[in-house]
Amino acid sequence: MVTGGAGFIGSEYIRNLLGDAYGTGGVEVTVLDKLTYSGNMANLAPVADDPRLTFVHGDICDADLVNGLMPGHDAVVHFAAETHVDRALHGPAQFVQTNVVGTQVLLDAARNSGVGRFLHVSTDEVYGSIDEGSWTEESPVAPRSAYSAAKAGSDLLALAYHRTYGLDVVVTRCSNNYGHYQFPEKVIPLFVTNLLDGGTVPLYGDGLNVRDWLHVSDHCNGIQAALDKGRAGEVYHIGGGTELTNRELTEMLLAATGRTWDAVRPVADRKGHDRRYSLNIDKIRNELGYEPQVTLADGIARTVAWYQDNRGWWEPLKERAAL
Ligand SMILES: NC(=O)c1ccc[n+]([C@@H]2O[C@H](COP(=O)([O-])OP(=O)(O)OC[C@H]3O[C@@H](n4cnc5c(N)ncnc54)[C@H](O)[C@@H]3O)[C@@H](O)[C@H]2O)c1
Repeated sequence: MVTGGAGFIGSEYIRNLLGDAYGTGGVEVTVLDKLTYSGNMANLAPVADDPRLTFVHGDICDADLVNGLMPGHDAVVHFAAETHVDRALHGPAQFVQTNVVGTQVLLDAARNSGVGRFLHVSTDEVYGSIDEGSWTEESPVAPRSAYSAAKAGSDLLALAYHRTYGLDVVVTRCSNNYGHYQFPEKVIPLFVTNLLDGGTVPLYGDGLNVRDWLHVSDHCNGIQAALDKGRAGEVYHIGGGTELTNRELTEMLLAATGRTWDAVRPVADRKGHDRRYSLNIDKIRNELGYEPQVTLADGIARTVAWYQDNRGWWEPLKERAAL
């Protein structure tokens, strides 16, 4: 069972899984997705007719639905979440409901129906912000936004179900993702689509916040490695992309779209904006043989080309992104 499989990363995982990128051949998969503003059936269009895919439109917080669906599944890969930090500033309640309560409902159902493995997809944002060096899996969580606090709650709950009930749980914590099919509220697709339309792009504060950018296919490869070979009860970092300031990222996107710095509109900084995220990925590299494959230059070029070629996908979403 894959929750949130109609979102950005979940749909990449499903397209790859059913395209046999992970060597899982005859796998059958149930996608459970509420189709919130960021969930989109168009993301699953390339595999919509695959008889191995069952799509269920529903909420992970609906215990009756989840308890009814769960029996018979070997594993859960749990992507579903409220994910946009800016939205959490204005409405934290939905973040707690989906990310914390929804995860607890899934964990209970997995435990009661004897699911083999529960992979919880978490984020580097649970650690807060780090000025120098990189976090290891042993670093204390210290989230600073309602998004990251709710993600930390769900991440720790998943680990608690392993310790308390012996549920086979693996948690992955990943850095910032980019790539095709990303909803145009997140910085890379927002900037690319604005620039392709001849518009301007809003750059927060001094533009010196640092993020590690990883192509979505590399995140999904790391998830599959953790699902197949990770040790129960363990946390694995997935990262190893390229650390960039937002100014450096903006310069890359301007160059890729043939625009200049005139298109940049400085705006007041995000409230509580984390300065820098950085993950040490030695554990997944050494234990599971994970290595990111897509360079930033290649990944950005492919992503910009995809948005150029797929206006029909993102134009209807721009209005939804503004809500
Ligand atoms: N995007 C990143 O850079 C990044 C980095 C690290 C970790 N993550 C994590 O990866 C996961 C997926 O992120 P994404 O960027 O694909 O997000 P997304 O917003 O594109 O997709 C979220 C999906 O979850 C679904 N969903 C939301 N609430 C639901 C509910 N109550 N019940 C069922 N489905 C629901 C949505 O409809 C959507 O399809 C999240 O858990 C996120 O925290 C994301």
